[in-house]
Amino acid sequence: MAKLFIEDLDVKGKRVLMRVDFNVPLSKKDGSITDDSRIKASLPSIRYVIEHGGSLVLMSHLGRPDGKVVPALSMKPASERLSRLLGRPVAQLGDCVGPEVEKFVLAMKPGSIAMLENLRFHPEEEENEESFSRALASLGDLYVNDAFGTAHRAHASTAGVARYMKAGAAGYLMRDEIKYLGDLLRKPGRPFVVILGGAKISTKIGVIRNLLKEADCLLIGGAMSYTFLKAQRMPVGASLVEDDRLAEAASLVEQATREKKELLLPIDHLVARKVEEGSETMLVGANGIGAGWIGVDIGPGTIERYGEQIASAKTIFWNGPMGIFEIKKFSKGTEQIARMVAESGAVSVVGGGDSVAAINQLGLTDKITHVSTGGGASLEYLEGKKLPGIEALTDSNKQ
Ligand code: 3PG
Repeated sequence: MAKLFIEDLDVKGKRVLMRVDFNVPLSKKDGSITDDSRIKASLPSIRYVIEHGGSLVLMSHLGRPDGKVVPALSMKPASERLSRLLGRPVAQLGDCVGPEVEKFVLAMKPGSIAMLENLRFHPEEEENEESFSRALASLGDLYVNDAFGTAHRAHASTAGVARYMKAGAAGYLMRDEIKYLGDLLRKPGRPFVVILGGAKISTKIGVIRNLLKEADCLLIGGAMSYTFLKAQRMPVGASLVEDDRLAEAASLVEQATREKKELLLPIDHLVARKVEEGSETMLVGANGIGAGWIGVDIGPGTIERYGEQIASAKTIFWNGPMGIFEIKKFSKGTEQIARMVAESGAVSVVGGGDSVAAINQLGLTDKITHVSTGGGASLEYLEGKKLPGIEALTDSNKQ
């Protein structure tokens, strides 16, 4: 990697300011953490600092509080979970900047860990404001960024702060994400099959364009397929469509034809009257989505067709569910794709909240080569963009 790595730092006796991405999903019922994968994924970097005689000041955002204090988005549940996972205390501070925070961190002893309060309680975080970046930088001697999931944001804690620190290094999680995602672009085993789903084509146009150059075959599912189908004048009933993206969808299909790449769309669908568990449903063919019906999942013919591509793949990247996976009745396509990816024997990389949740819920995590903690970040990386959180780190002079 062209950037400094955590193991390049001498952390002994130093205070390490570490950006982590503890933006974890919370239960709507009681606010508890429903998936702690992102916390677990940062444990190697956290343990490295503690085991090598450093103290650790952790910082993260949680949710989108829009620059205001929102008690339900406190980092406290995350720091408590971290403490349980590590089996050692983690002090939860009441803010992320200010005299009390400074006083606390100055008194920290080697091996101790403090978690700052949600960075996004301050508008200056997302504004990447200079004095806020400086205030964060004053809390550590060295900077580590292990928040790959937020590396596509040019915020104070991901980009600004690095300007005011002696050295900024990537943590283990950041390094692994860059390696596995980078390998997809550099040297994928072929055939390289990309599976993209989710609601909106608008968030994935850039990545589709770039991956049409790199991949051999793209399998499209989820509601974004209805925008593609409508662009080809197929009936989509009352399915979710981004009408302002029809021209771009058509141009992606043209690009695929031009580059002699396969861009496969669903050939059958599960449709429903309403987006709810008890709704009337039926299976229909490619041309069969009638007026008033909503496409909610890919059908069995599509699953079989996509399965053939997945089975022959040597490399797979998957982002986004094939249907409205949160509703059990509409989750079969996503589940089957997850199982087929896990059984494929290919190098597999899965990113994005819902596809990762499907993999976790089905107990398939160990069968996936790399489960990315980044949704938007992994897409922007594969789009070929430079991520501000990576760019801000110190260049390494190692080859
Ligand atoms: C994510 O969950 O994708 C990251 O934590 C970034 O969060 P954001 O989209 O609110 O910036």
